[in-house]
Amino acid sequence: MAQAAATVAASPPVGALPPPPTLIDCILRDHSNTLTLFSYFFKATSLGDAAVQDMTASALALDLRLHSHAETVVLYPILQSRLGPSGAQWATRALAEHSMIEQSIADVLALRSVGGQALENRMKQMQTEIIAHLAEEESQILPTVAAALSQVCWACAAAQRGKPWHAWQGGP
Ligand SMILES: [Fe+2]
Ligand SMILES: [Fe+2]
Repeated sequence: MAQAAATVAASPPVGALPPPPTLIDCILRDHSNTLTLFSYFFKATSLGDAAVQDMTASALALDLRLHSHAETVVLYPILQSRLGPSGAQWATRALAEHSMIEQSIADVLALRSVGGQALENRMKQMQTEIIAHLAEEESQILPTVAAALSQVCWACAAAQRGKPWHAWQGGP
């Protein structure tokens, strides 16, 4: 108890805390987590660890679905409403890619019980799709949105829709 109180007393004052992450920070962190989960899956594959393969495939499915939902609700409406025809085109293309990724997720989940080369091959295909999608978001969409909106707008974008980014990831 005394140790906990001492820890709290040693914490920096609220005013000294770093600023909260922006929406871009949250999206980039999600992308990084996704790529890490792929690396765990392929590491487990190289070790022949079917249990970890199954776990990481399931974790990836959840991770991707939550991220996709949050982008659909928060990011893509910004593209559609604030960035003119090119933003709307990006949103349309990105949503189509999300549909393709959702099909890949369904295939991967179905292949968990099969395992082996079939699961590995489908996971490699999904990884390729996702890397291309993330690359487009990170190299084109996010910088354009960041340039178009102030940090204040970024901070408010998710809240204006009723919840912060990570709350959207919890689903509607
Ligand atoms: Fe996306
Ligand atoms: Fe994304």
